[in-house]
Amino acid sequence: MTADHGPRWLRWPSETSRRRFAFGADYNPEQWPREVWREDVRAMRHAGVNIVSLAIFSWARLQPRADRWTFDWLDEVMDLLHAHGIAVDLATATASPPPWLTARHPEILPVDHDGRTLWPGGRQHWRPTSPIFREHALRLVRAMARRYGSHPALAAWHVSNELGCHNVYDFSEDAATAFRAWLRDRYGTVEELNQAWATAFWSQTYDDWAEILPPRLATSYANPTQQLDFKRFSSDALKDYLRAERDALAELTPEIPVTTNFMVMGETKGMDYADWACEVDFVSNDHYVTTGPQARDELSFSANLTGRLSGGEPWFLMEHSTGAVNWQPVNTPKKPGGLARDSLTHVAYGADAVCFFQWRQSAGGAEKYHSAMVPHAGTDSEVFRSVVDLGATLERLAPVAGTRRRRAPAAIVFDWDSWWASELDSHPTSRLRYRQEALDWYSAFAAAGVRVDVVTSAESFPHYDLLVAPILHVVPRGLADRLGAYAAGGGHLVTTYFSGIVDEHDHVWLGGYPGALRELLGIRIEEFGPLLDGDRVDLDLGVSGTLWSDRIDVTGPDVEVVARYTSGEHAGRPAVTTRRVGTGSASYVSTRLGPEGLGPVLSRFLATGGVRGELPEAVAGSVELAIRTGDDADYWFLINRTDESVTVGDAGEVAGEVLQAPCLASDLTLAPRQVCVLRRAHETPPVS
Ligand code: GLA
Repeated sequence: MTADHGPRWLRWPSETSRRRFAFGADYNPEQWPREVWREDVRAMRHAGVNIVSLAIFSWARLQPRADRWTFDWLDEVMDLLHAHGIAVDLATATASPPPWLTARHPEILPVDHDGRTLWPGGRQHWRPTSPIFREHALRLVRAMARRYGSHPALAAWHVSNELGCHNVYDFSEDAATAFRAWLRDRYGTVEELNQAWATAFWSQTYDDWAEILPPRLATSYANPTQQLDFKRFSSDALKDYLRAERDALAELTPEIPVTTNFMVMGETKGMDYADWACEVDFVSNDHYVTTGPQARDELSFSANLTGRLSGGEPWFLMEHSTGAVNWQPVNTPKKPGGLARDSLTHVAYGADAVCFFQWRQSAGGAEKYHSAMVPHAGTDSEVFRSVVDLGATLERLAPVAGTRRRRAPAAIVFDWDSWWASELDSHPTSRLRYRQEALDWYSAFAAAGVRVDVVTSAESFPHYDLLVAPILHVVPRGLADRLGAYAAGGGHLVTTYFSGIVDEHDHVWLGGYPGALRELLGIRIEEFGPLLDGDRVDLDLGVSGTLWSDRIDVTGPDVEVVARYTSGEHAGRPAVTTRRVGTGSASYVSTRLGPEGLGPVLSRFLATGGVRGELPEAVAGSVELAIRTGDDADYWFLINRTDESVTVGDAGEVAGEVLQAPCLASDLTLAPRQVCVLRRAHETPPVS
């Protein structure tokens, strides 16, 4: 939802105004002969596909030379799709510059940290701050808007593709010039910058803006605040590019909503999406499953956070996969039911569009072994049959489309500044992983059968009875005050090791850790206690910690020691503390307990916060619950997290009309990896 108007959704062609799920894929017809296009639209209609993202990587096909444009093929595809009732999320086609442009202007090519040019051969080989690239890209954007802005198939604009996937950090002279301008805007004077960057250290004091560079390859650790500001600048530079395309589109086609696909997934950390979300008409996200025991929870975590970035409004799952990707070390297919479970988990957390990369699996090119809706084996395949089943399921679930997320009783705070700053070099340990700690807490909530929202630090905390802020490392004074007010007002705050350490300039809050939160937590720590690989510390809760430990001194009134270390340097000393604050509390967990180890600790905090699960206790950990709420009903998504059948118990306990067969309403048994949706009419007005 952009600043000048509220959220907007797809502009469906008029005859299909009822709310329904968008279902489709990236579509790259330029890779195939025309007869395949006709086969495509037939198969799309058979599968229930109602939208495609088109022309994402088509720049070279649309503008083969600087002075030549070839839109005829795209005209034909747009008309063919519209004739078959398939809407188009039309890309601006600027994601990958054509060879003629980079040959003519190599100065648009990114430069990496070590000073190496990133040459053509892949994709997204452009500098976010290059004026020359932007000039050529916006010329294409305007040409697309003028030609297709009134096409009846056009449902949305798709700016570029995954901005920052390969080019978020550019160290070129263009980047240096833009970085200096960004710094001047942020600090005003070189003196203020010197203060913020602590440049008295290692004789780094600047006398003139022209002396300042991006943190390129250096002899030793680069200035940490310079690094942090460069991350902030790089995210802003791409956001500025997004706004340039969006504004060009809005000028020519103001009635068409604009989106771009974020990447809230795994360790993709270069773009602060909490800061970007207001720049688009609706949030779109790409997600691909990771591997390992928390892979499913990571998908849920990412969908959950995306739904909050969208402000609880429906969002667009732009891409995920029907099966294996091709860019992990080993790319495994999905298990039976996995395609549907992944898709419906995104829907459970607010996605009103389920789209894939891509429609037809490529025969050539770097992603020919990446799964698609139509695999190399064609439509007579398990994958395509699963796709058709999913299309039918989404049709049955149409009443859910347009409903909003129902808030959970608890929340996990996710903060990009803390993610960036806590993982800088020259730190107590290089092993710390910010997102992993947040995901561990998410898995612990899932294991406890308790719904939890993943929110950003900009959200209003009082909505939540329990607020967990893992490794909230960067705590400016204002955030510390908000957290204190939350606890004093009855909220129950939990934070962890390496939280509250620095201000927004990455300067340590002095007087003892955790600086900004020391008084609120009623504790004081003089030295960090990072653990070596393989070392563990035991706690008297029967769990053990890795990565980190702290020597805690209790300093405040009303502090209760929840758990003590029973081994390691701090044996006998506090490991987990809770301080009563007003009608609330503030708690501290001083080691990494991991998803299982957090169980006993979380159950303690759930009790303190009066937070309970909404499903029968017996299925806690096996069945994940997410709730969407509409005008007349709630929709309960029961997600089987396991590879076994799970009986949810007497349907009376979770009474509701089963929306999606074949859940057995009588005893509500979920097959392995199955998602069941219950419609529960409102007895009372929905919780806002
Ligand atoms: C991203 C890109 C797609 C494709 C997929 C592969 O989502 O947007 O073009 O590269 O990854 O997983």
